[in-house]
Amino acid sequence: MARATHLLALDQGTSSSRSIVFDREGRVVASAQRELTQHYPRPGWVEHDPMEIWATQRDTAREALARAGLAAADVAAIGITNQRETTLLWDRRSGEPVHPAIVWQDRRTEPICAALRDGGHAEAIRARTGLVVDPYFSGTKLQWLLDHVPGARARAEAGDLAFGTVDSWLLWRLTGGDDPATRAQAAHATDVSNASRTMLFDVHRNDWDEDLLALLRVPRAVLPAVHPSSGVVGHSAAAVLGAAVPVGGIAGDQQAALFGQACFRAGLAKNTYGTGCFLLMHTGDQFRPSANGLVSTAAAQLDAGPAGRAYALEGSVFIAGAVVQWLRDGLQAIRASADVQPLAESVQDAGGVMLVPAFTGLGAPYWQPEARGAIVGLTRGTTMAHIARAALESIAFQSAALLQAMGRDAEAAGAAPVSELRVDGGASVNDLLMQIQADLLGVPVVRPQVVETTALGAASLAGLAVGLTAGLDELAAQWRIDRRFEPRWPRERAAEAMARWEHAVRQTVAR
Ligand code: G3P
Repeated sequence: MARATHLLALDQGTSSSRSIVFDREGRVVASAQRELTQHYPRPGWVEHDPMEIWATQRDTAREALARAGLAAADVAAIGITNQRETTLLWDRRSGEPVHPAIVWQDRRTEPICAALRDGGHAEAIRARTGLVVDPYFSGTKLQWLLDHVPGARARAEAGDLAFGTVDSWLLWRLTGGDDPATRAQAAHATDVSNASRTMLFDVHRNDWDEDLLALLRVPRAVLPAVHPSSGVVGHSAAAVLGAAVPVGGIAGDQQAALFGQACFRAGLAKNTYGTGCFLLMHTGDQFRPSANGLVSTAAAQLDAGPAGRAYALEGSVFIAGAVVQWLRDGLQAIRASADVQPLAESVQDAGGVMLVPAFTGLGAPYWQPEARGAIVGLTRGTTMAHIARAALESIAFQSAALLQAMGRDAEAAGAAPVSELRVDGGASVNDLLMQIQADLLGVPVVRPQVVETTALGAASLAGLAVGLTAGLDELAAQWRIDRRFEPRWPRERAAEAMARWEHAVRQTVAR
């Protein structure tokens, strides 16, 4: 039999499910994508339909293979990458979800988080998990499900229910959970990078933390097994793709992007410009706590033992590309998202306007769930072009605040600051935004040829597991630059702009 030569990445994101077929050199061969319906049952709540997550993902996988002219037997391994923290709970026997998935953006568990903070648990949680107590992470969402779905806690304690982030849900259905005949053999597992986003996981020992499980009243019986990010954890059921294919890689989408950007060692950093922005800096085998409002998290890890430990500092911006959607759908200032660049370029600068898109509160490094958006500095001369430019700049300002926080953490640890920022995601194709970003940061912004780095990272992790990819050096050699944006502003100008930004941010918080 001819050796399988391709890799299939399943990239399940907040807005869509995508599947991409790569060749062994990391080139995109074919892809398919389906939008995912967003449900907002109450203000601050965001839900997804688990069955739609699965169906769209399965269908795009089939479609991508068909477009590539390949059969499942040509695929050496599957890599799964996913929107992180989104929380699912399902019945192991019926395969039915007990509730819609609670999406990472959902704020319903803020009262639980406030009680944890008031109870003095924040420091212990940060020390074990690296995380800030916030509704963003899965733990309080799972607690909410166990408390609010009738009978869920008793069924969970009896071992009848399974909890998972989106990777676990896809893996379980892919490896047999979709079919009653094979359900009992389905793999219920996750990887360290996803587990590290639950607020239930000790990132030093790579195991679920008994104290945190007790604190959040989560029975251990619901939890998936935790694996390294690379390694075969099961095989796809023949009924799903037509043949059994090893599932060789799992990583949360931001850690997968860090891997796909070949950021394998301390000091290398990437920023993904999607709905939100996620800036991660590799910190090597050192768990480095942040004193500046960032979270510490597990990077993709190739090995379960201490030798495989890899960590990152992360800052998450909740509204980035979404501010352009708001210009389009809310303000109706542009017809298509791509129109923002020419409109913003039609003026020299934002004319003193600052837009702080704190539509759902502010994430790192501010952590202000109650903040709401603001536009300040309006004059009679302000036009929609200035507001569009201020909207683009807000993406760069928020990312710059994260990199500054990382710089302060690096300095305190005696480590070198970031010397360049690798970028990817939808809005990274916007040259104006990338130039503003470099100008503010004072370090080059580097865009690679393949900006599908999330899917590439997952495929690479899977390729390593089955020996299709030789090692990290080969992956680093495959990473190639498309364009490098050099900073042009004097540092005083950037500092003055950042000071004006911070002033505007303070006005959204003190309402
Ligand atoms: O932490 C949330 C993040 O993983 C979501 O990423 O690309 O689906 O918006 P994305």
